[in-house]
Amino acid sequence: MLPDHVTLVDVGPRDGLQNEKEPVSAAHKIELVHRLQAAGLREIEVTSFVSPKWVPQMADNREVMDGIERRPGVRYSVLTPNLKGLDAALATRPDEIVVFGAATEAFSQRNINCSIAESFERFRPVVETAHANGIKVRGAISCALGCPYQGEVSADEVERVVRLMKDIGVDHCGVADTIGVGTPRKVQAAMERALRHYPIAEVSGHFHDTYGQALVNIHACLQMGIAIFDASVAGLGGCPYAKGATGNVATEDVLFLLNGLGIETGIDLDRLVDAAAFISGVLGRKPVSRTGNALLAK
Ligand code: HMG
Ligand code: MG
Repeated sequence: MLPDHVTLVDVGPRDGLQNEKEPVSAAHKIELVHRLQAAGLREIEVTSFVSPKWVPQMADNREVMDGIERRPGVRYSVLTPNLKGLDAALATRPDEIVVFGAATEAFSQRNINCSIAESFERFRPVVETAHANGIKVRGAISCALGCPYQGEVSADEVERVVRLMKDIGVDHCGVADTIGVGTPRKVQAAMERALRHYPIAEVSGHFHDTYGQALVNIHACLQMGIAIFDASVAGLGGCPYAKGATGNVATEDVLFLLNGLGIETGIDLDRLVDAAAFISGVLGRKPVSRTGNALLAK
């Protein structure tokens, strides 16, 4: 049976914009967050506190967090790979932080410059400090369905990282298909490993649409009862350390699917398309989303 309600986490301001070649101003990022919350998004991944040498687009993290007019009931999250990132993030009062590991050693090295084991040694004090400050910690497992450097990734490799997350007290387990190569059975196998260690209310899917599989993968997760998904307005995005990986699945496309299935989200499609049109205008291109473009053409 499918869930009655689904939570969509819009990661557009962070995952979506981190890879843009031209700088996007803090004011435009703030306006994007405002339009997303106006559309009814209740979870927004705003920025990341990573090295500005590695990801220059997120160097304005503090300005963006400080500039948002916060709405009650909306959760604002940020990525923090280490204690330095967390310390900087804490000053901006995030509701949630995200630590991001990888299912493969090769991606861990390329993305965060350390092994999987080392990354968890870095995350451990991040989780402890976040909890001491009353902040929930989400974990993301990149490359859970395939890796641009290693190739195939097994469910065992995914479960190894799920266990590491559980061991250090990460509250939520996000399974991410960074390069969009997952297909429904493989996705269900990876999710099943996450569900061995985390309750269903703390497992989410993060899909990229590189091979056009994101919506069927989300449907496969819905069939398992999973009810939290990351998505990116206008289909923005791509990871700087995963060449050829196109955007995250577009929030508008996921919402169209959920609306059609009668699943409640609290999000208004027209206002979401407005947010997609806004950021696409800033970037000087059309949204990548099918739904966004169809509705904008009307
Ligand atoms: P490192 O070079 O190994 O770190 O980078 P370090 O501790 O040796 O420090 C080197 C320099 O970075 C020092 O500065 C530090 O101060 C600075 P210097 O002395 O050279 O001037 N530094 C920092 N500055 C700001 N904030 C920090 C920070 N930490 C160190 N937090 C590090 C390690 C993790 C920092 C680096 O590799 C990095 O920033 N990587 C970027 C990772 C990233 O943002 N990737 C994209 C997000 S993940 C993703 O998109 C996937 C996901 O969406 C899921 C999916 O789609 O699959 C989550
Ligand atoms: Mg992503």
